Amino acid sequence: MRLLMEHPTFSTIVVNPLSRALGAEIEGVDLSQPLEDAQFEDIQNALFTFGVIGFRDQTLSHQNQIDFALRFGTLEVHPIVKGMEGHPEIIRMHKPAGTPASFGVGWHSDNSFFVQPSLGSIVYAETVPPVGGDTLFANQQLAYDMLSDGLRKTLEGLVAIHSAKEAYTSPTALEKYDSDGPISYKKSDIIEKFVEHPVVIKHPVTGKKALYVNAMFTHHFKGWTMEESKPLLEFLSTHATREDFQCRFKWQKNSLVMWDNRVVQHAALNDYVDYDRTLYRVTVNGTTLN
Ligand code: SIN
Repeated sequence: MRLLMEHPTFSTIVVNPLSRALGAEIEGVDLSQPLEDAQFEDIQNALFTFGVIGFRDQTLSHQNQIDFALRFGTLEVHPIVKGMEGHPEIIRMHKPAGTPASFGVGWHSDNSFFVQPSLGSIVYAETVPPVGGDTLFANQQLAYDMLSDGLRKTLEGLVAIHSAKEAYTSPTALEKYDSDGPISYKKSDIIEKFVEHPVVIKHPVTGKKALYVNAMFTHHFKGWTMEESKPLLEFLSTHATREDFQCRFKWQKNSLVMWDNRVVQHAALNDYVDYDRTLYRVTVNGTTLN
């Protein structure tokens, strides 16, 4: 994922960048239809080039969304967040009017607490607020590139410990266990687990380096105490989500967005309390990060 000037051309799709840092909207694709291999390859290359790709005006069934996701790999059934009945691999991210948003709020990379974190998330919008409810994304390859040589050297070889515990036992999370509310959680051993990932990872396909720590799930550095880890983690989390590393996606009904979790952090905004918002998320399984 590089800056705008350097992006390649694509023969089967039209690509309109969202910001100088990352993200693009793609035209010329109907995701309700099976994709030709050449078009899928262009979409996949656009994902690896821009980190976040969005499609407008897609009329999709749950199965269409699943079929698109299956082109990228196998699908995850989330160990904590309950999936939909009949479609366990789909999470219905519903926020009713009058309640604050409490899912996906705050910068993170989906499921970095997995031994093999998610390759990507694919989200389809059914109901969107008339204002607000955008999602922000930040380019972690750019975040790595923009560190000083000295800090990049310090981070090489450093390992971070990730955990779901704090995020999934916060007061707003605890309310969701076995609830009949809009999002429901189930108890899972994964909440007690600590997993290791390098602080600097290489993208499994492009080989490009990216910073891989996030404020929601990164707990401490391996071999460091939490007190020792905190200042550097705070610096890296703030640096990683700098405004000039970001793009913003403004949802419309029937928009679909996919992002590459290995190289992108995201944050859902909680700025539309008076309105409903309903999105459907499918997550593609990833691999061990090196
Ligand atoms: C998420 O998948 O973390 C939430 C995305 C959103 O609601 O915008």
